[in-house]
Amino acid sequence: MTYNSLIDIKNLSEDNFFRLLECADKMSKGLLPVKHHSKTVANLFYENSTRTLVSFELAAKRLGLCCTSLAMNNSSEAKGEVFLDTIQTLGAMSIDAFVIRHRQENLIIEAEKALPQYGFINAGNGMHAHPSQALLDIFTITQHVADYPKYHNLKIVIVGDVKHSRVANSFIEALKKLGVMDIRICAPSYFQPREKLEGVAIDISLARALEDADIVYNLRVQKERFDSNEQLDFDDYIDQYQLSNEKLQNIHPKAIIMHPGPINRGIEITSEVADGPRSKILKQVENGVYMRMAILDWVLTPYT
Ligand code: NCD
Repeated sequence: MTYNSLIDIKNLSEDNFFRLLECADKMSKGLLPVKHHSKTVANLFYENSTRTLVSFELAAKRLGLCCTSLAMNNSSEAKGEVFLDTIQTLGAMSIDAFVIRHRQENLIIEAEKALPQYGFINAGNGMHAHPSQALLDIFTITQHVADYPKYHNLKIVIVGDVKHSRVANSFIEALKKLGVMDIRICAPSYFQPREKLEGVAIDISLARALEDADIVYNLRVQKERFDSNEQLDFDDYIDQYQLSNEKLQNIHPKAIIMHPGPINRGIEITSEVADGPRSKILKQVENGVYMRMAILDWVLTPYT
């Protein structure tokens, strides 16, 4: 049996990208697919997680799948077992698909190549990719802007720590697949992308970047990913880049604010914005379950 895998957005075909959006929409309306009664999914999270782990668990359960989650700091890898052996050991217990979050970027890529008998879903690999987050974000955008051709004209501004963000990488890839033409990053020089990104404008001025923006996508300062030589003057960052109602005055009147969470209130975003009428942060969390149901359904639907 060969399953599908979701490692990053770049390698997801356009057909499958739009199919996942359609399927998440059906899930959100309670239209469940035929259940995969006999299939089993394992969530292996080697990094902290709240929303991603729980939403993958709930998505599996709502599809009627058998699901197990392992906190990997309690696993046998602490005893020296290598990653591929862990996968094969668990696979021997008839697991069909693995949802994996790991600090090392290459492990899930190697596992997908070495063990094609399993489906793999990347729930975040280092600073590389977080495709399920990008898909749920795009689903949230399509709910807000229901009219398809309008996507091309959206102005989307990503504000914050892009440098350490796997979410930004996947989100940008997904926006391009959706056909968005105006994608901007607004960040100080020390938070700009590590590599040049085709088709993405970069601005250090928040006031200029936000003018007429339709979607403002805010990122957390990911301090746990800083190198030992990286430091941040928080007061200066807050002063220049924290999203507040005052700084958002010139965005489009119907604009929305998004954030993948977890939010650091008072750092990259004020509470008045995070909890305000334009915030879609909890909608993103809700949609995360529907999108992960769609992803699991697609991964476990074998090629014909
Ligand atoms: C993101 C992640 O883990 O990359 N969170 C998430 O999955 N919702 C973003 C972050 O940690 O800031």
